[in-house]
Amino acid sequence: MSITADVIQKDKDYSVPVAARPDFVLTRGEGVTVFDAAGKAYTDWVAGIAVNALGYGDAELQKAVAAQMDTGLIHVSGLYHTQPMVELAQALCDMSFADKAYFCNSGAEAVEGALKFARKHAYVNERANKTKVVSFSDAFHGRTMGALAVTPKAKYQTPFKPMVPGAVVGEFNNIQSARELIDADTVAVIVEPIQGEGGINVASAEFMQALRTLCDEHDAALIFDEIQCGLGRSGDMWAHSIAGVSPDIMVLAKPLAGGLPIGAILTTDAIASAMSPGDHGSTFSGGAVVMQAAQVVIKRIASEGFLEHVREVGEYLLERLAELNSPHIVDVRGRGLMAGIELDIAPGGIVQAGYEQGLLLVSSGTNVIRFVPPLIVQKAHVDELVDKLTQILEAIDDGD
Ligand SMILES: Cc1ncc(COP(=O)(O)O)c(C=O)c1O
Repeated sequence: MSITADVIQKDKDYSVPVAARPDFVLTRGEGVTVFDAAGKAYTDWVAGIAVNALGYGDAELQKAVAAQMDTGLIHVSGLYHTQPMVELAQALCDMSFADKAYFCNSGAEAVEGALKFARKHAYVNERANKTKVVSFSDAFHGRTMGALAVTPKAKYQTPFKPMVPGAVVGEFNNIQSARELIDADTVAVIVEPIQGEGGINVASAEFMQALRTLCDEHDAALIFDEIQCGLGRSGDMWAHSIAGVSPDIMVLAKPLAGGLPIGAILTTDAIASAMSPGDHGSTFSGGAVVMQAAQVVIKRIASEGFLEHVREVGEYLLERLAELNSPHIVDVRGRGLMAGIELDIAPGGIVQAGYEQGLLLVSSGTNVIRFVPPLIVQKAHVDELVDKLTQILEAIDDGD
């Protein structure tokens, strides 16, 4: 039996069926390209869903991870001090609004923690009655129970009801809707500056500014979820910075450790000081190998010319996608290397045709093809993408 047939059979036999995977098996990666067991190359416009910012096989990242492994100190628990953890906390605070950092293992876990931080801050300030959390239409904040409660999509929530109480939903980018919901009972407001799973929707500067004002007026914690749009993807280090306002809490994950599992909660001294030993924690929090990997990633993203490259290739991507000519295209939008094409058809056929053409593509929402490649992608890859999408869309249009 071939490796491909063997793996697909074992996946069927032994994996919980929460993913519909295509019929090839990925075995290695290099730059922005991954290869399957049969040797076929795919240019990767998914990057592990906005994770592999430095692409595949980055020598510095591999060296840093190997060097930490060589110390023998893979894990010691957050009960003890380690240098890699405090160095990463300091670096993230230096490059953001934050005074303090906490590390965990995933995006959803960071969101859970952020909600707890906001609740504890209200509690120590004798406002334990503040329990309302405002999120917005088309948001995605994760699949654990707290994060799911602020991810207002029936498909994700319905089978798992009842949800954690307190969550209410406003309309994304609608200031009036936010004004109607954010009040004295509100403990936190959570928003993605650019929605990823919900269809690549960019929050307006005015909307983010209004949320900041409303949170200040009602003493609620403003949480920016930059798990997908942060760390350079938008062309700025933080997607919220164009609004000129800072959150009280920012959650990060996906690209932070170059593909190793990580989540981070960045916050102010005011909120961090409400937390005491034992209030929150996780066995793997701040693991030394992951912390070393993350230091390589953030240094590279902050290095000279890196964000300019993201902006330049990102603008080129949006320009070239806008040239695509198909009656099925409704809109092309995004910022930096986070782009989407909205269609009037389900995107599954295009994703499938992409595999045949040697492209990894992923959908977002119900009708958007999303492009979140490694941040090292080049203009030549954009040209290849647009050529192949042109052929794919022509074949679909011919079949209509
Ligand atoms: C904006 C945002 N928040 C939270 C999450 C959840 O992250 P994780 O899948 O690491 O739990 C995601 C994942 O797609 C995300 O895009």
